[in-house]
Amino acid sequence: MEQQRDNLIGEALSFLEAIEKVSLLATINRPVLIVGERGTGKELFAARLHYLSSRWDQAFVKLNCAAINENLLETELFGHESGAFTGANKKHIGRFELAHTGSLFIDELGNSSAAVQEKLLRVIEYGEMERVGGNKTINIDVRIIAATNENLPEMAKQNKFRADLLDRLAFDVITIPPLRDRKTDIPILAEHFALSMTKELGRDFFAGFDKNAAKDLLDYHWPGNVRELKNVIERAIYKTPSDEPITTIDIDPFDSPYQLSGERTTQQDSDIKSESSVKAENTPINTGKFQPPALPLDFKETITSFEVDLIQNAMKQAHFNQKKCAELLGLTYHQLRGYLKKYQLLNNK
Ligand SMILES: Nc1ncnc2c1ncn2[C@@H]1O[C@H](COP(=O)(O)OP(=O)(O)OP(=O)(O)O)[C@@H](O)[C@H]1O
Ligand SMILES: [Mg+2]
Repeated sequence: MEQQRDNLIGEALSFLEAIEKVSLLATINRPVLIVGERGTGKELFAARLHYLSSRWDQAFVKLNCAAINENLLETELFGHESGAFTGANKKHIGRFELAHTGSLFIDELGNSSAAVQEKLLRVIEYGEMERVGGNKTINIDVRIIAATNENLPEMAKQNKFRADLLDRLAFDVITIPPLRDRKTDIPILAEHFALSMTKELGRDFFAGFDKNAAKDLLDYHWPGNVRELKNVIERAIYKTPSDEPITTIDIDPFDSPYQLSGERTTQQDSDIKSESSVKAENTPINTGKFQPPALPLDFKETITSFEVDLIQNAMKQAHFNQKKCAELLGLTYHQLRGYLKKYQLLNNK
């Protein structure tokens, strides 16, 4: 955790505003809720909040609610007495007690049960709790930092999360903007991850990103945010010889020609034809003048099947290399990926 303290990188205004809010909130002893899509850096923000607070030299304890089942969650947070339930031979100290006088980071707390939510409410309100199976009240001084990528106000409206708990947890909320809404940070973060991966690989030189690769990074919508960017850059670095710039960005590590789906795949796999035979047999393009199909027709259906044919032919010609296929069609890689997904020409996507 120590080394994460100063690791938050970014210069976009929306990002700096969130950082500024962390600094302000660090000075007051109240619960904070950190909200952001997956991979936006919620855990790093939580750590920063703790280390900037007056509790910085006390424990910073973490618990991810999504990683353990509901029953275990209660004992992990609050501990249990020996004999609290079958198999509970020894007393177990929970995270609240471990975090006493420090901070407790409760991650993905949208997943907590009603029982846990009730106990949380009490510990926040009165600083009191009991271990599971115990009746001794324990006084606790813990600052709670909670994080979620779920819409808790909406969950509260649907009675899936206690509204009174939300009110208390969300004394104030830090919302981390998704990467696609702070595009100026993409090259900065990309460079940072590239340099640290270069160092990790023992290389002494990073040749940079070429124009296309830099554009692909900016164009992509990054649903997995900074974590996804980090992985993509690290993959690009290790795959590229050390003295060459990065020219290709492979977003999806699952990308493989063998993912092409169902009937089409079977046919395509056994049926890779030469460029000329593909053109001659299947497509109305590249054979000279476009021949419109006979009327009447269903416009939308015709366009769809035309697009599917174009893509399938280009895929065959590109030997199922998606980057090459995109080039043949004059599309960007991401545009082609969009079509492959739209027409379900990929498995599991
Ligand atoms: N601004 C940033 N600067 C540097 N690294 C970052 C930044 N934001 C996130 N990261 C890195 O991205 C990865 C994901 O960050 P983190 O685990 O904090 O995200 P998260 O929001 O908690 O994600 P999840 O919702 O999936 O748990 C980590 O490797 C983290 O170090
Ligand atoms: Mg996290």
